[in-house]
Amino acid sequence: MGKLIVALDLDDKKRIYELIKRLGNKVDFYKVGIISYFTCGDELIKKLKKEGKKIFLDFKFFDIPNTVKNASKILIEKEVDMFTVHLMSGEQVIKSIVEVKQKLKSETKIIGVTVLTSLVEKEIDFLNIKIDKLVEKLVNYGYKWGIDGVVCSGQELEMIRTKYKSPFLIIVPGVRIDEKNKKDDQKRITTPEQAIKKGADFIVVGRPIYENKEPEKIVEKILSKIKNGNKNMD
Ligand code: C5P
Repeated sequence: MGKLIVALDLDDKKRIYELIKRLGNKVDFYKVGIISYFTCGDELIKKLKKEGKKIFLDFKFFDIPNTVKNASKILIEKEVDMFTVHLMSGEQVIKSIVEVKQKLKSETKIIGVTVLTSLVEKEIDFLNIKIDKLVEKLVNYGYKWGIDGVVCSGQELEMIRTKYKSPFLIIVPGVRIDEKNKKDDQKRITTPEQAIKKGADFIVVGRPIYENKEPEKIVEKILSKIKNGNKNMD
């Protein structure tokens, strides 16, 4: 069953806490990223945990093995539900995190970032590989190295789900309710219904929710689309 993660990408503590309060029981999974963490610090993680919410800690680590391994250990000890690392960091980085997780007997999910949903072919044509091929390669290696799931766009979702079944997690950002009216940095976008229908475990939605005057109404709309997507899963 696909679910919603609300991204708290706000730099105002009051607004973040107000949003969580307004969304109440409608939302039980939040993304804490660099904006909200730099704004609230650990207090936000503690608050969400106290309220029984799940946490997707999306710092997208991309560094040398020693740095990522030690940073991951801290996150795993905070008992967040999932956290992200760029798969381009390579085998040594990913395997070292998997090892830490196993050593600590942790349930925290290690999620590999493939190619950002804000990127299109021409921006990375110097790499000489098509985005879907690069995503496929990264997922194949990530799976082999022991990650629990990946972040990808709606465009690569079907290809990944066909190859890697549940419980391998697929998280899809770049989700817009109305694909035609969007004017922001997200490029490889999809709708909530399509993402769920094609097998996403989670969709991550930020601006369409927190920039709306009535975020609870948008959340309800997204949740009903998720419900339709779950009903129509291939
Ligand atoms: O505001 P918007 O709905 O575009 O937010 C999407 C969220 O998903 C942001 O917090 C962004 O950092 C995150 N994300 C992404 N692309 C990835 C991984 C995470 O957009 N590949």
